[in-house]
Amino acid sequence: MKLKTSLFVFALCCAAALHAQEIVIPQARYKTGDKPEWKNNVLDDESWISLDTSREWDFQGIVDNEFGYGWYRMRVTIPSSMKKADVLKKALLVDLGSVDDSDETYFNGKRIGKTGTMPGDPEGYKGRSGTPRRYLASPFLVHWDGENVIAVRVFNGGGRGGIFGGPVRVRMATVADMTEIAFKEEDRHCSVSVSSPFKFKGSLTLRGLDLESGAVIDGGSTTEGSLQVPCDPGRPVQWTATFTEAKSGQEAVKSFIPKYILTPEAPKSPRYNGPLVFGVRPGSPIILRLAFSGQRPMTFAVEGLPDGATLDAREGVLGGRVTLPGDYPLTLVAKNAFGTTRQTIRLRVGDKIALTPPMGWNSWNCWGLSVSQEKVLSSARALLEKGLADYGYHYVNIDDAWEAEERNADGTIACNEKFPDIQGLGEWLHAHGLRLGIYSSPGDRTCGHYLGSLGHEKQDAETYNAWGVDYLKYDWCGYAREFAKSADKSVASYVRPYLKMEEFLREQPRDIFYSLCMYSKTAEVWKWGHAVDANSWRTTGDILDVWGSVCNIGFAQQAPLYPYSQPGHWNDPDMLVVGKLGWGETLRHTRLTVDEQYTHISLWCLLAANLLIGCDVAQMDEFTVALLCNNEVLAIDQDPLGRQARPVIVDGEIQVWSRPLADGATALGVFNLSPEVRKVDLVRYLSQLGLSGTLRDLWRQKDIAPGESLIAPHGVKLLKIK
Ligand code: GLA
Repeated sequence: MKLKTSLFVFALCCAAALHAQEIVIPQARYKTGDKPEWKNNVLDDESWISLDTSREWDFQGIVDNEFGYGWYRMRVTIPSSMKKADVLKKALLVDLGSVDDSDETYFNGKRIGKTGTMPGDPEGYKGRSGTPRRYLASPFLVHWDGENVIAVRVFNGGGRGGIFGGPVRVRMATVADMTEIAFKEEDRHCSVSVSSPFKFKGSLTLRGLDLESGAVIDGGSTTEGSLQVPCDPGRPVQWTATFTEAKSGQEAVKSFIPKYILTPEAPKSPRYNGPLVFGVRPGSPIILRLAFSGQRPMTFAVEGLPDGATLDAREGVLGGRVTLPGDYPLTLVAKNAFGTTRQTIRLRVGDKIALTPPMGWNSWNCWGLSVSQEKVLSSARALLEKGLADYGYHYVNIDDAWEAEERNADGTIACNEKFPDIQGLGEWLHAHGLRLGIYSSPGDRTCGHYLGSLGHEKQDAETYNAWGVDYLKYDWCGYAREFAKSADKSVASYVRPYLKMEEFLREQPRDIFYSLCMYSKTAEVWKWGHAVDANSWRTTGDILDVWGSVCNIGFAQQAPLYPYSQPGHWNDPDMLVVGKLGWGETLRHTRLTVDEQYTHISLWCLLAANLLIGCDVAQMDEFTVALLCNNEVLAIDQDPLGRQARPVIVDGEIQVWSRPLADGATALGVFNLSPEVRKVDLVRYLSQLGLSGTLRDLWRQKDIAPGESLIAPHGVKLLKIK
């Protein structure tokens, strides 16, 4: 705390001095294209356009540079007075913020850094959008008191492109810039180490803050460069490591919260975790796995089954078809060695499906275009084996890259060699009460350049039915070309291709969840999605596993959309980015911190969002299973009232989101959007909202007394008030 106070005072008192030591470059010259000489200092760039260095080029009129290059050039005079701030006598730091997607950066013609790769590179293109771009230039490269040129070659691999997250800044590097403090967490063993290419000497001290009790914990100190960090999976503790460099006294500070599990262990006796209402159309096959956790073996019975409905008592799967519309109360009975549990739910046979948001898995955020039937099956098996299916994760959705290169001679769509038997896969899933999802585009091509459905909508809908498909994600992508060709840019022209597929889907004798993937802001799909009987619609561009993405999509972009969501028709803020992800062959752990993950899941549940797991379920660790399988948290997402949360208090960087629940209670998320631990006064917020009653901490699943509470950086308290 002392450190922070002193830094704050320093910032207040020395703002002018700091300003003089840092050069901010808000504008750069820009040109689309790619020429090696554009890195040189001597170049006439007067005719280049001027761009803001803190926002992607798409926001500044460069809208057609997809899968292409662009160069930025910045001319900057660096005063020799800046050298005084060079305590380390080491280097100049060029901080670009970030780049979408790959870049190569030159200082006075010499390359000082590269992040990601470009199509011409031997390994091919690999973007690294979102990661920081901070490069060092040797003081010998600098033309002191003269003009210097920073030239940045950018490759945009799709979507937005260019430098963003800045503006670009230049200053002398400090100990903090040049030191890496790394926390490592492996199988409940945590450590922190400090390293620097400059081999600094100094001391490393560690201090903990227990976020539940507020107690401060002494974690020790060393001059050896590394320390063990106690990591207790049962408690949130923020560890702060401070490295003090011996000669300059400058500090580098980093905080870290090891994984902690809040979800209590499930009882061994049967417990129902599924939705309280399930919709099916008259005559459509019912596929419903009864979502009971508890020790296996377990047997099942259902009281009140209407004519035509069947039960697989061993597997716990409802099947059959009911032709007579009606609202049927079913009493589910699950029995194992530890007890018997009864739960009443409603089977609503009518014209609406998806009465609660869909839950399941999708291949995109993990496997990207490298998806195969084997990989899909492996995640599906893991949903069963790791118990996620007992919490309602039932859709198994294949995203892009299942399509063959060409259609069959009769025009029907076929799978590529990675999917030898999609129908068999569907049958296997259905036998276990899971459901099969697939992906296509209203355009000629999908986003991954595979075959789309344009001109074959009827045939494709029929093929999906024959394969046993239960979910279609229909992605605008290639249709953008059709749209560009037509003079009609009205809302109707966005709606048309989606309406077409809806017509053919609804002709099929099975329920196919219709998921629109349409991210054009001008289309405002949330205003017409229900009119094409879509069951959900994407409200944003693609999510990434970084805070900026989750925060912007989840908070800013969803806040105004709550009026458009309702049972049967949901806003979809994109798939979950927890667990092991990669959008391709190689997977890695999500880059979200543990608290950002709690926020992600809490917020998506408050938003009544589709809960589609994006990671490889087979490689899911204990923390992620617990994160995704908290029945009280999921009950918020699946609440039958189906009302999406909205922000009700914005108190600086604390936001309180609330939604009413079917049982008359209120769900509240108190989010800390700041990068620091914050103390919040729950009593004040509750009285501001006029709420009183029993307060329940949904992650811990226990009633709590309202009071002051610490919330982790980017963290949350998820509450229910009854
Ligand atoms: C788009 C979608 C993603 C994914 C890919 C597949 O980017 O938004 O969710 O489906 O296409 O190519």
